[in-house]
Amino acid sequence: MAIVDIQGIKKQYPGVGREPALDRIDLRLEPGTVLGLLGPNGAGKTTFIKILAGLLVPDAGRGTVLGYDLWRQAAEIRAHVSLVAPTADVGIDNNLTVRQNLVFWAPVYGLYGKAARQRIVELLERLGLADKADAWPMHLSAGQRQRLALARSLLAETPLLFLDEPTNKLDREGTQAVRELIAELNIERGVTIVLTTHVMEEAEELCTEIAILQHGQIRQHGPTYDVIASLGIVRPVQLILQGDPEAMSSLATRDLMGAVKLEWAQPEWAPGDKELTVWTRDTRGTTADLLAWVMRHGYRLVRIQSARVTLDDVFRQVLDAGRPN
Ligand SMILES: Nc1ncnc2c1ncn2[C@@H]1O[C@H](COP(=O)(O)OP(=O)(O)OP(=O)(O)O)[C@@H](O)[C@H]1O
Ligand SMILES: [Mg+2]
Repeated sequence: MAIVDIQGIKKQYPGVGREPALDRIDLRLEPGTVLGLLGPNGAGKTTFIKILAGLLVPDAGRGTVLGYDLWRQAAEIRAHVSLVAPTADVGIDNNLTVRQNLVFWAPVYGLYGKAARQRIVELLERLGLADKADAWPMHLSAGQRQRLALARSLLAETPLLFLDEPTNKLDREGTQAVRELIAELNIERGVTIVLTTHVMEEAEELCTEIAILQHGQIRQHGPTYDVIASLGIVRPVQLILQGDPEAMSSLATRDLMGAVKLEWAQPEWAPGDKELTVWTRDTRGTTADLLAWVMRHGYRLVRIQSARVTLDDVFRQVLDAGRPN
C-alpha cells in the first residue's frame, strides 16, 4: 500500500490573489521514501505538508495518507503522523524544562518507561542539548529551540514524518546531527519522511525522491538521481591517461553511457600523457564506463575529475522553464 496516494489536490487561501497555493497536485509515495519538497518561497510546500498531515483541508482532490481518507479521516491522519513546522516553537511548553518537554511528548508518540528515558537521553546527546536538559525553553537560543522541536518529532515512532525546513536556523554541527538522525530514522526504522529544504546539497544527500514545486504545481518528481539525469544537462568528465594511443583512439561515444562528445588533447606539460574530455548527460554512468575501459586496456589513470550535475543545476533549470516570459 502506498503511504501517500493523492490526486488533484487544490488549495486556495480565501481572499488571496488569483493563483491557488496548490493546483492539481498528484503524489504517490511508497513506504520508506525520503521525499524532498523543493521550491522557491511561496511555492506551496508548507501548504502541501499541512494538507498531507491532516492539518489543512484541501478545496478539491481526493486520496489517502497511511490508508486514511484525506477528507473523512483527517483526525486519524493527525494521530499517526508527526510534523515539525518551521516555526519550531509549536509543541514546546515553556513551563516545562527541555527534558520534561520530551518526557511529556514521549507517550504521545508511543514511547514509555525505560525506552522513553533512553531515547530522550540519546536525542538530547545527539542534538547537543545534554547540558540544556534542565533549562527552560525561554532560555534557549533560536537554534536550540529548533533542536528541541526536532528532538520532539524524532521521538516519533510514527510511520510518516514531516519536516518543514528541519535544519533552518541550525549551525553546522546541528545540521549534521539532524541529517544523520533523519537518515537513521529512515534506514533503521523504515520511517517515510517528507522534508522541505532550500539547501540543495541537503536534499541530494538525504532524499530518495525529489519533487520540485513552483506556483503550486509539481514541475518535476522522481527518484533523485533520475531527476538529476532526466534534464540531460551536459557536463565534462576529464581524464589524464598513459598507454597505447592507437588503442585509445578506438573509444567512441556509444561505448560510454550518456556521452555526447569526446575530445582528445595532448597536455603540454606531459608529452607521454593523453587528456580526454567526455561531454556527457550522465557523469556517473560515463565515469563507471570509463573506469571499466581503462581497466580493460591496462591504461594508467593519472587523474580523473568530473563536474557532475547537481540538484542545484536541475532546480534552476526547472524553475527557469516554469517562469512566465
Ligand atoms: N494562512 C495563509 N493565508 C493566506 N495565504 C497563505 C497562508 N499560508 C500560505 N499562504 C500563501 O500560499 C502560498 C504558498 O505558501 P506556502 O507557505 O505553502 O509556501 P512555501 O513553499 O512553504 O514557502 P517558503 O519557502 O517561504 O516556506 C503563498 O503565496 C502564501 O502567501
Ligand atoms: Mg514553507
